[in-house]
Amino acid sequence: MSAEIEKILEEFDHDQRNLIHILHHVQARYAYIPPQTISYIARHLKISESEIYGVLTFYKGFSLEPRGKHLVTVCTGTACHVRGAPRIVDELERKFDIEVTETTKDKLFTLETVNCVGACALGPIVVVDGEYHGQMKISKVDKLIEKYKPAKENKSKS
Ligand code: FES
Repeated sequence: MSAEIEKILEEFDHDQRNLIHILHHVQARYAYIPPQTISYIARHLKISESEIYGVLTFYKGFSLEPRGKHLVTVCTGTACHVRGAPRIVDELERKFDIEVTETTKDKLFTLETVNCVGACALGPIVVVDGEYHGQMKISKVDKLIEKYKPAKENKSKS
C-alpha cells in the first residue's frame, strides 16, 4: 500500500489545501480511507493526523471503514421522508440484513442515508454508486438490488 499512497501523493504538492482532494483520491482507490494512509498524508502535508481525522469526521462522504462494492444511499430528506423513504430504508435493511451505515457480509452493498440529494420532485430517491433511482417503491427494491448483483449470484435460496 505504501507505494500506492506515495504515488497518489506525488500528484499533489505540500499545500494543506490539497487535503480534501487527496482524501478523495485515496477513497476512490480503496473505496474508503484506510487508517494506515493517514500518517503518509499527514507527513506529506505537514499537518497532524488529528487534523485529518477532524476533516474525516466532518465530511460524511469519507469512510474509515471498508465499504461494499456498491454504495446504496437512501435520501431521507423531508420530501423523500414524507413519500415513504423510511419504508425503503427498512426494506433495504431487511433485504441486506444490516443496518444503515453497515456493509453486507458479502461486501457487495453498503447502506447509508443522506439528507436531500437535490432532486426532491423525484422522491423517494435511492442513489446507487451515484446513479439516481427516483420514485422508489418497496415493490421496486428487489429489482434494484438485482441490477447490482453479479450475474452468477444464486437467487433461488429459500
Ligand atoms: S428530500 Fe430527497 S431529494 Fe430532496
